[in-house]
Amino acid sequence: ASLREHNTFGLPAVARTLVRIKTEADVRRVVDHPEYGVARKFVLGGGSNVVLTHDLEDVVLKVEIAGRRLVDETPEAWIVEAGAGESWHGVVAWTLQQGWPGLENLALIPGSTGAAPVQNIGAYGVELKDRFHSLDAIDLVTGRSVTLGPAECRFGYRDSVFKHTGFGGLAGKSVITRVRFRLPKPWQPLLGYLDLERKMAETGNHAPDANTVFDWVCAIRRAKLPDPAVIGNAGSFFKNPVVTEEQCRDIIGRDPEIVHYPMPDGTVKLAAGWLIDACGWKGKTVGRAGVYEKQALVLVNRGGASGAEVVTLARAIQESVYGRFGIRLEPEPIIV
Ligand code: EPU
Repeated sequence: ASLREHNTFGLPAVARTLVRIKTEADVRRVVDHPEYGVARKFVLGGGSNVVLTHDLEDVVLKVEIAGRRLVDETPEAWIVEAGAGESWHGVVAWTLQQGWPGLENLALIPGSTGAAPVQNIGAYGVELKDRFHSLDAIDLVTGRSVTLGPAECRFGYRDSVFKHTGFGGLAGKSVITRVRFRLPKPWQPLLGYLDLERKMAETGNHAPDANTVFDWVCAIRRAKLPDPAVIGNAGSFFKNPVVTEEQCRDIIGRDPEIVHYPMPDGTVKLAAGWLIDACGWKGKTVGRAGVYEKQALVLVNRGGASGAEVVTLARAIQESVYGRFGIRLEPEPIIV
């Protein structure tokens, strides 16, 4: 089966076996299958955070589990559940329509709900972990269902236990089937992010409701991020690197303009987009892969690119950023 339609970069790759997972029982059928049960497995959600560089011998599980419901309402919060196959943005929009705000800063992030915890999606001052309640997953070896809370998911910046293959890591070992969110009451807008402050100033609205924040986030994203349905991409290609205060002072000494954010623990996060931009990459094309014109952190498929071309471009960017700033950029998507 071709995976081109199943990854937002639009990269060509073929899976020898693609199994569509619509229910928990479908997962168990794979586990119990004489051939698939023992084969290596690759779990694919919306395909918005992978770079496919070759065909896959693994059994690819395309998660399409649907369903959205309110699980519980207490005086402190709404607890909402969504199937892993639900579109993330669809879930965000639906919660707001129902009158349960809290996910609006995470509007318009491509991908599925099941993929959201894998990389702890985040934007405009909110990360998935800030709204996470628990998730259900099925162990791909035993077929057993488990419920994991926030501690067991080991969330970090664009990271979780589901991205790790080493000891205790769950990458390729389990499939997320349902995710629950805790949306706290009373609701308060989170507007600390520069782009949102600009919207407040522009509109003169300093007390926006959740739907307004949702509209602002959508407008900000549409203005600087390419729509994967039009131009293949996987969002930010690199993580924003974190350096020590000392390293940062050194870099500022040489490049006073550098965009940086002090972190609560004393480290400093640098804007990778700025570093790449400063190296002159914005709008550049190598082969059929390129750097997006409006945001240097996003690599794009200019049409017909292979995964290898994307990786070649990424390496060239890493080398030039290292050469100029001595900083190693780490890719954000999973490179297969
Ligand atoms: N910048 C440049 N040139 C560029 C790009 C950025 O100078 O080409 C500067 C901007 O002017 C800004 C700073 O770098 O001062 C940061 O840029 P931006 O606000 O666009 O955010 P980001 O750090 O590039 C992160 C996330 C995004 C998320 C936004 C908003 C990562 C790796 N990326 O991007 O997440 O939407 O903040 O919160 O943390 C994603 O993970 O796929 C993603 C899109």
